[in-house]
Amino acid sequence: MGSIAIVFLVGAASIFAQTTSISKSASITPTTVPTSTQPSAGVNFPPVGSIPRDFSPAGLEKLWSVVGPIDPPPFTTTRVPDLPIPVPSSPPALYPSWFAPAPKDVLPKLKLPKGFKFGVATAAYQVEGAVKNDGKGPTMWDWNSRQPGGVLDGTNGDVVDLHYYLYKEDIARVAALGFNAHSFSISWARIFPFGTADSPVNRVALAHYSDLIDYHIKSGVEPVATLFHWDLPLALQAYYGGFTSPKIVDDFVNFAKTVFKAYNGRVKTWYTFNEPRVYCGQITTYPFVNASFAPGVNASTAPYICAWNLLRAHAGAVKAFREMKIQGEISFKNDDYVGIPWRANSTEDMAAVERHAAFRIGIFSDPAYTTGDWPKIMTDTLPPSYLPRLTAAEKKDIHGSADFFATDPYRTQWIAAPPDGIDACVKNTSHSMWPECHSVVLVDSNAGWAAGLNPDPLSDTWLQATPNFLRESLRQLQKRWPTKKMYISEFGFDEPFEELRTDMFRIVEDVTRTNYYMTYLGEILLAIHEDKIPIAGTFAWAMVDNTEWNSGISAKFGIQHVNYTTLERTYKRSAFALSEFYKAHAQK
Ligand code: BGC
Repeated sequence: MGSIAIVFLVGAASIFAQTTSISKSASITPTTVPTSTQPSAGVNFPPVGSIPRDFSPAGLEKLWSVVGPIDPPPFTTTRVPDLPIPVPSSPPALYPSWFAPAPKDVLPKLKLPKGFKFGVATAAYQVEGAVKNDGKGPTMWDWNSRQPGGVLDGTNGDVVDLHYYLYKEDIARVAALGFNAHSFSISWARIFPFGTADSPVNRVALAHYSDLIDYHIKSGVEPVATLFHWDLPLALQAYYGGFTSPKIVDDFVNFAKTVFKAYNGRVKTWYTFNEPRVYCGQITTYPFVNASFAPGVNASTAPYICAWNLLRAHAGAVKAFREMKIQGEISFKNDDYVGIPWRANSTEDMAAVERHAAFRIGIFSDPAYTTGDWPKIMTDTLPPSYLPRLTAAEKKDIHGSADFFATDPYRTQWIAAPPDGIDACVKNTSHSMWPECHSVVLVDSNAGWAAGLNPDPLSDTWLQATPNFLRESLRQLQKRWPTKKMYISEFGFDEPFEELRTDMFRIVEDVTRTNYYMTYLGEILLAIHEDKIPIAGTFAWAMVDNTEWNSGISAKFGIQHVNYTTLERTYKRSAFALSEFYKAHAQK
């Protein structure tokens, strides 16, 4: 027994190491990088408060000078596509039907509910390009992409998909396949180049998104809008430290009100924030490390101070939404999953699952949906200097501030307690796993099999295709944060080694992504019909290949290929499979 136990722990320790490398899903755990290996990252960013608030064109140029020179787009007018978009014939079946059914034959008797939103998803920074056009201000990602180590393949979002000028073509292309919704984000730095409530609004940008929304509606593709998908106006980081300062709350609410008023009645489903937990974890990673926090905030406290400010900004925006009587529904997008105990009979791993649920979902969803307050596991662990306690008035505003539950259930994995136990970790603030005191494990505890098919190595620190865990995951969400309506607001897969393929016939054959979508959608049908989970929409990430944060354009999540020289889009097999699945399962 003794020697088995030792092997077991050593094995576990190496798995923990594997799962801590940088990823878009970096843990919200404070970054404790030893000083000797600390990236020089962040040193180039101007100290907080050192840039004066000058809202003139010269002031805007001064902000852009922090970023450096920008690659201009090859053209600067909105391209109008020739309609109808030619749709090539569907790809032939990959497998005999006894092995894998065609998309239309996946659980053919089960239908999607009436009015189901069968959509695709994108985010402004990841697809728009044209980062300095039409008066846009710089964002922290414009800056980050130019810092050493900021983006692994050295690419940036300057041009990328040029969706800013190609949105008509993009919408027409997904409409041609029958998708009926597109979840996109509105760039705060386009609408308010200087970010703040007292700075000028950019009418050109307001008109741009207005046209974009109208084009969606005209094309039969419902526009679903997110206000913040991680692309913080650089000005706000420079003026006061972005989300590490309470000053962000009023500025975000002002941005939200401006956008609500402009598009009221045309956008019916809104999200305030995309995956706030990931965003707040991320502000201490990549070159953001120590970039510019508000006075008194450091890399250890920043993720939680961010969560506190962000939650209050969300609640403030929703309060305004309701006071302004904006039509439709509003919520935010949760990332992550509750998790499964790594060792099935281990009470320690079961407790670790509770910690995972609290730190990854409960942090925002307990206050918004159930208790109105932070999860007890978090307040028992983190002192108020890390996680400021919510006042009675704040709790009142936050509780009930979401009209539906949105989840991005990309994967579900195992959760393990620290090798020396949860108690030892919780009591020791210098423990490497403090304060979350649990680990995500990608392989089972018996034979070391993976939780699911592995993606491209660029995403393998966090992603696996885990359809077999999806239903239980959704049931856990519904049990803990009950809702009458749930959206799968993003799901998708990073096709292994797609970035190495050069022939189009190899690129479009995205078999692992296709299998991911078909197996997830089959489980979603079962979740709706057998588990009675009120799923009202799914959004495939992503409509097109795009810039995947610190992995750049090398990580491919698109159901359409983008040729980054010609900007031409090509449907991949997964796009056809989704389309055929939807047509066969839709109820008109
Ligand atoms: C994010 C996207 C990201 C995708 C794939 C989601 O969590 O919202 O921005 O590209 O995951 O990593």
